[in-house]
Amino acid sequence: MDAMKLNEVVELVTRQGETLQARRLRPADRQALRRFGESLSPTTTGVFLPHHYDDATLEPILRRSEAGDDLTLGVFRGSRIVGYFFLWYLDQAFPLLGIGLHDDYQGAGLGRQMMNLLVAEAARLGRDGIDLTTLPTNDRAFRLYQSVGFRQIGYVENPRAGGGVTVERALRYTLNPAAAAPGHLANGRPVRELADGSAR
Ligand SMILES: CC(C)(COP(=O)(O)OP(=O)(O)OC[C@H]1O[C@@H](n2cnc3c(N)ncnc32)[C@H](O)[C@@H]1OP(=O)(O)O)[C@@H](O)C(=O)NCCC(=O)NCCS
Repeated sequence: MDAMKLNEVVELVTRQGETLQARRLRPADRQALRRFGESLSPTTTGVFLPHHYDDATLEPILRRSEAGDDLTLGVFRGSRIVGYFFLWYLDQAFPLLGIGLHDDYQGAGLGRQMMNLLVAEAARLGRDGIDLTTLPTNDRAFRLYQSVGFRQIGYVENPRAGGGVTVERALRYTLNPAAAAPGHLANGRPVRELADGSAR
């Protein structure tokens, strides 16, 4: 089955009652996405920097979004992007999830609605599950992921932009319990299992 249509709009409502629009991104959104990336605080960028926001980086990402190779979405307040979330490696059994909100819109109940939307899309596409990685210090994100139904399966070493590696938690949401659970992420990174072998 097809994923969410390119022009489909999903309304999200903050705890304060403000209605925002989520939809798939396309090449024409490049400026808005660049502004979003450049307006995040250092704290937010420290936990959410899926890529840089220069035009050369954004162009192929937005082309893949338009083509439906990834599911790449923005949360809009008018023409301004205040949230960015996605499932990359959409053709894989366990796509990789990413999510980030502008500082002004954190803690307003949007994250849960965005997560639910991505889980529903992966289910609609018949995927076996969803993986993500998150810094061990990011308690807010970890609690949200757990309450949505993600469980920690281990740790992953992610390369840092400036060199070196960052050890992150790897979490998995299972959609098809009968499917074989891969020991690596869709981007090929191996998952180092938890010491006791259990999912948390
Ligand atoms: C992480 C993030 C996506 C969460 O979205 P959010 O809209 O701010 O969170 P929500 O308001 O939907 O809250 C979701 C849950 O998180 C938890 N939570 C919210 N604020 C929290 C806080 N300050 N401390 C601890 N837990 C908190 C609560 O359990 C809440 O559940 P509830 O809905 O039952 O109250 C968002 O804060 C964000 O973009 N942060 C910066 C970037 C980031 O960390 N991205 C993830 C990288 S892995």
